[in-house]
Amino acid sequence: MKVIAINGSPRKKWNTATLLTKALEGAASQGAETELVHLYDLTFKGCVSCFACKTKGGKSYGRCAVQDALAPVLKRIEESDAIILGSPIYFGTVTGEMRSFLERLFFPYLAYVRPPQSLCPKRIGTGFIYTMNVTEEQAQQFGIAQCVAHNDRVLKMIFGSSESLCSFDTWQFDDYAKVVATRFDPEAKAERRRTVFPEDSRKAFEMGARLAKPRT
Ligand SMILES: Cc1cc2nc3c(=O)[nH]c(=O)nc-3n(C[C@H](O)[C@H](O)[C@H](O)COP(=O)(O)O)c2cc1C
Repeated sequence: MKVIAINGSPRKKWNTATLLTKALEGAASQGAETELVHLYDLTFKGCVSCFACKTKGGKSYGRCAVQDALAPVLKRIEESDAIILGSPIYFGTVTGEMRSFLERLFFPYLAYVRPPQSLCPKRIGTGFIYTMNVTEEQAQQFGIAQCVAHNDRVLKMIFGSSESLCSFDTWQFDDYAKVVATRFDPEAKAERRRTVFPEDSRKAFEMGARLAKPRT
């Protein structure tokens, strides 16, 4: 089994990266070979609407034809057994880099037929880990839950399965005393980081372990 995690946060050691690392530890506990890709290390763009992936009889039908730093990652994803995506929520949705990545990942595999069909040559297990400042109730209220549900639907359609994990009310700054952020209570944040984040990490580990189990 090969499991690839994609970090859509610019921070390589914070909430999203920590949970992705835990998920990969879970996958490794089942014997999987693992890899963590930091999107912010790569120079790439979102879909450029070239339609090479949709061209009848074209050599790139069902594949992204753009040759940039993302191309080898997309190839490795197709060779993998499971992918675990991770992104902070920025202004109600995933980060711009994650959005650009998803466009490149999804569009080539989406056959424009009725009903839509997947061109992905095999079933790949998928998980998506989201981290955010808001509470679970606020995530519902601000439409973040719809973003999660939408990605879940597309991932299921294209790759055959999907599961999501949300880590709410995360610890955002090294030192809350040094930033203007009076809407947050640093003590409550610290308490949550101490009591809830380890639980989220455990759930991430289990997600990774589940995704690395051979599917029947
Ligand atoms: C530009 C920016 C926009 C953000 N927008 C939101 C938001 O709309 N909702 C939210 O709950 N958190 C928001 N956050 C907070 C992050 O989602 C949260 O701190 C997350 O856990 C950061 O992930 P990281 O630690 O992996 O970088 C935002 C943070 C930044 C830097």
